[in-house]
Amino acid sequence: ASPLRLGIAGLGTVGTGTVKIIQKHADMLAARAGRPVAITAVSARDRMKNRDIDLSAYAWEEDARALAVRDDIDVFVELIGGDEGIAREAVTAALRAGKDVVTANKALLAIHGQELAELAEDNGRVIRFEAAVAGGIPIIKTMTESLAGNEIRRVMGVMNGTCNYILTRMENGGLPYEAVFEEARQLGYLEADPTLDVGGIDASHKLAILSAIAFGTRPSFDAVEIEGIERVSIDDIRRAADMGYRIKLLGVAQMTARGLEQRMSPCLVPADSPLGQLQGGTNMVVVEGDAVGQVVLRGAGAGEGPTASAVMSDVLEIARGVRMPSFGQPARDLVAPQAARTAVP
Ligand code: NAP
Ligand code: HSE
Repeated sequence: ASPLRLGIAGLGTVGTGTVKIIQKHADMLAARAGRPVAITAVSARDRMKNRDIDLSAYAWEEDARALAVRDDIDVFVELIGGDEGIAREAVTAALRAGKDVVTANKALLAIHGQELAELAEDNGRVIRFEAAVAGGIPIIKTMTESLAGNEIRRVMGVMNGTCNYILTRMENGGLPYEAVFEEARQLGYLEADPTLDVGGIDASHKLAILSAIAFGTRPSFDAVEIEGIERVSIDDIRRAADMGYRIKLLGVAQMTARGLEQRMSPCLVPADSPLGQLQGGTNMVVVEGDAVGQVVLRGAGAGEGPTASAVMSDVLEIARGVRMPSFGQPARDLVAPQAARTAVP
């Protein structure tokens, strides 16, 4: 069978992790996909940077937008980041040029997801983003495929590894914020602009994506009420612990009589509850469906291996010929949050 040919833009934490999996497991991936998965060309900012991976077999493109439209790729894998600029332009160019797209870019999806999903469908392409929400946890496919028979009542969870790492290390190690922040950087958890992490914005991008899938609404990041962890002090954490609680940056999306409610904020959770027990960069997502009841997924929410694992699930899905709509239903059928199909009084 003909290989699925990838162009990978962005060779940082997630990009190098993805290249490593493809190099390490070529035979296994080919067996599972029914065809080889091959990297044709790559792109990043600095060609001379040492990345601890062998890129000599791949063509190098200086500009990700040129990579996105190459004749010798089938799938454009966007692992650069950012909701504007090069990532948005390259993804748009790829879809227009008839390429499928895989991305880990939650900011792009939360803000421009509607437009990009429509563009993909208009061009008979798919845009897939398992890695965009909760790192290695397979929450997108769980919701769009495995729970497709449920009316979703609520989706909530801890969706930012950096914040969970900072909060748990501050509590357990009594370490100052700056030291903990540096540890998170070393682990590859941080966004290029880490204020997105601690400000709750990154987690809110993820919540906006899950809300769209859960409630059939257009991704609506602007409608998320956001409070980050910047004002959480060691004293707050200690007082919470004295009362048997922990502080977690918790996102909740649910239908109310007023429409879709999306909120991201530091919350007190019982220390002995599953959410209270989450350590380090671990994430947890809880989905409540009318038929299935409560489903809880827990796993590494950030970092090289877990995020690349999720990227590869999308690549393999495309290699197998599976063509799911991005948000679980055709993008043009998604409605404004106020017009969502369920209203729980
Ligand atoms: P990163 O380590 O900062 O890597 C970003 C890559 O993009 C680098 O290779 C960089 O090139 C390249 N790049 C930056 N500007 C570019 C430009 N103008 N043209 C071409 N390449 C450019 O970021 P990351 O952590 O891998 O994250 C990538 C994406 O995955 C982001 O959307 C992020 O939100 C998402 N994500 C990350 C994680 C995680 O745990 N890190 C988890 C889930 C999702 P150079 O290397 O040459 O500088
Ligand atoms: N910066 C993000 C986090 C990466 O800390 O969770 C994973 O999306």
